[in-house]
Amino acid sequence: MTQSVTVSAPAKINLSLGVGPLRADGFHPLATVFQAIGLFDEVRVRPAESDILTVYGDGVDASDVPTDGSNIALKAARLLAKHHSVDEYVEMHIHKRIPVAGGLAGGSADAAAALVACDALWGLRTPRDELLDLAAELGSDVPFCVVGGTAIGLGRGEVLSPVMSRGSYWWVVVPGEGGLSTPSVYAEFDRLIADSGADEPEVSDSLLSALRAGDVEWLGTALSNDLQRAALSLQPDLAPLLEQGLDASAHGAIVSGSGPTTVFLCESREHALEVGSTFDRTVLVAEAPVHGARVVSR
Ligand code: C5P
Repeated sequence: MTQSVTVSAPAKINLSLGVGPLRADGFHPLATVFQAIGLFDEVRVRPAESDILTVYGDGVDASDVPTDGSNIALKAARLLAKHHSVDEYVEMHIHKRIPVAGGLAGGSADAAAALVACDALWGLRTPRDELLDLAAELGSDVPFCVVGGTAIGLGRGEVLSPVMSRGSYWWVVVPGEGGLSTPSVYAEFDRLIADSGADEPEVSDSLLSALRAGDVEWLGTALSNDLQRAALSLQPDLAPLLEQGLDASAHGAIVSGSGPTTVFLCESREHALEVGSTFDRTVLVAEAPVHGARVVSR
């Protein structure tokens, strides 16, 4: 029997996303609070003679996901093999449930899952710190997708520290129509702040207090996203969606990361289903926080 390992990794949302002015290295300094939500991609790996990738979109359009070596999950497998100087290749299958180019870190989740899956398949037992350094090389959000839960992200988002969060939260996730490329949203952010400039970002105390208290109404008022104006400028149809969710009694409404997915904070599954039913498109309901990338079968 061929050995295989399957790992699930969660989508992320940013409860707050503070963005500073463009750095010399082409990235923006962030002060963000990530939360992993119960919407998972799965990555399965098996030994193979050379790397091969297939992708299945489960309720999402995965036609734009590359299946060659430019895919971030295959890059993760190569990076891990190189790091340990092992001559191993994989047949990889990605089962996608996280909307593509949606601001939910779907590609980063796949990379995180691929790192954890290959580590297990090849019996490497990479120390956590080393794995997180490799994750950061792959992308700013990849370390968080490994770790999961609720965490502050500094630097370009890769410097993580855990956040005390009580209870669980329910989100209505409304996928955007079409995707938004992360670099284009940051470029629009740069254009919008060209005259006024941007302050060094900070995580709001109010948001952290709301999480510590487990107070959903308070958390709803403390959500913030410095990329939201840029995402709305590129996709003006998102503004009425946010209004619609608030009118339908969501405690907070925000563009997720660089968008165009919008997310709506609710107090229970029933409340989320009720708010979700007011949208005229397929929406997802997810509980949070959830675990990071982990082996589900082998
Ligand atoms: O790190 P990642 O590859 O996910 O970033 C994709 C792009 O998003 C970067 O090339 C950059 O244009 C933008 N980005 C940024 N500042 C960050 C994170 C991402 O400008 N902190």
